[in-house]
Amino acid sequence: MTIFEQRESSIRAYSRVYPVVFKTANNARQTDDTGKEYIDFFAGAGVLNFGHNNPAMKNAIIEYLNKNGVLHSLDMQTQAKAEFIQHFTDVILKPRNMPHRLQFTGPTGTNAVEAAMKLARRVTGRQNIVAFDQGFHGMTLGALAATANEYFRSAAGVPLEHVTHLPFAEQSDNSDESITALREVFLDHNAPAPAAFLIETIQAEGGVNVADKNWIEAIAAIAKELGALLIVDDIQVGCGRTGSYFSFDDLDIDPDIVCLAKGIGGIGTPLAMNLVRPELDDHWSPGEHTGTFRGQNLSFVAGKVALDFFTNDTLMNKVNANVDFMHSQLKPLLNSDPSLQLRSKGMIMGLDVGDGERASAIVQKCFIDGLIVASCGMGGKVIKLIPPLTIPQTDLAVGLNILINATRHVMEEAA
Ligand SMILES: Cc1ncc(COP(=O)(O)O)c(C=O)c1O
Repeated sequence: MTIFEQRESSIRAYSRVYPVVFKTANNARQTDDTGKEYIDFFAGAGVLNFGHNNPAMKNAIIEYLNKNGVLHSLDMQTQAKAEFIQHFTDVILKPRNMPHRLQFTGPTGTNAVEAAMKLARRVTGRQNIVAFDQGFHGMTLGALAATANEYFRSAAGVPLEHVTHLPFAEQSDNSDESITALREVFLDHNAPAPAAFLIETIQAEGGVNVADKNWIEAIAAIAKELGALLIVDDIQVGCGRTGSYFSFDDLDIDPDIVCLAKGIGGIGTPLAMNLVRPELDDHWSPGEHTGTFRGQNLSFVAGKVALDFFTNDTLMNKVNANVDFMHSQLKPLLNSDPSLQLRSKGMIMGLDVGDGERASAIVQKCFIDGLIVASCGMGGKVIKLIPPLTIPQTDLAVGLNILINATRHVMEEAA
């Protein structure tokens, strides 16, 4: 029995899917303790957009450590934090005319969502929040109430209340019908107005469901009419994943709160924050949503370097080229088996194989053949591809080849 089996909690999940001991990692490759290499198409569930151990970020951290930079500071002012806030403002917020303030929460995505939900309820004096079917927002009780997955919800042990789940309209759906239904519920029938609409523009854990543009813009308009907040959870698909910093840059929406986590620390160290409109942020009193680990200095240092990727178009052009390459490589597979479906926006792609057992067999075969991918969506029937944005095209080609062969193998066996 390994030390993990002996002593680590039964709650272990990913370590059961990938039962090796990882030792080193570099950009889109991880190596286990036997020396076997794996291409990483999972990237820490969307944390490692800039790859493992990005050299510029690593050097900045080493330099910071060598200078005895402050590592832990609660929410006190540090030079690392000042520089991160300044760079984020200059590179991300100002070009978009976003007046939002940065609220650092506990360093997990779920804590950012908790804070956003609290503030929406505070500001509006309303309790109910609208979230969407298949949505994923985290595991703590407030965020869990907004998460749709029954497996996760059933672990709560208490009723999960004050969230209404409504259908999510994908690109392929008839969005006019969904918009009419929404307007009927909230505007014509005068249902009590919610505090907020909490939405992912692409449901990542939910199966890579890409929201219909008109539908999401209609939600933003309805929220405005109702005096409800629009909260965009960009925790998994922000930070460049879709070929632009925010996943909603191409949508005509103006979120009141944007939840960010995962990729913002750059190198994989934790950091979470909400971007909050100042007039809403003024409703907080000091320390009301506190936490020991609000703002990690190593994450500020590496996260600031990560922002350099957004001072020019080089990385985003590379993302767009990677997207074209991924589509061209996957096309023959999709053409050969019409039961397979691909959903995507930028460098998040979901290969829907229609059945959880088949998806799990593909994930396992990929792993044996040297590729890390994970399944998601209802019943785990979708294989999610989220390689680091910085992946070399040679690694992308090797990884896609492994995936395509594994998928063909499993689909042929199942036929
Ligand atoms: C969209 C979204 N929101 C929230 C979370 C929760 O983040 P964390 O696991 O860091 O609490 C996740 C995690 O996968 C996510 O994808």
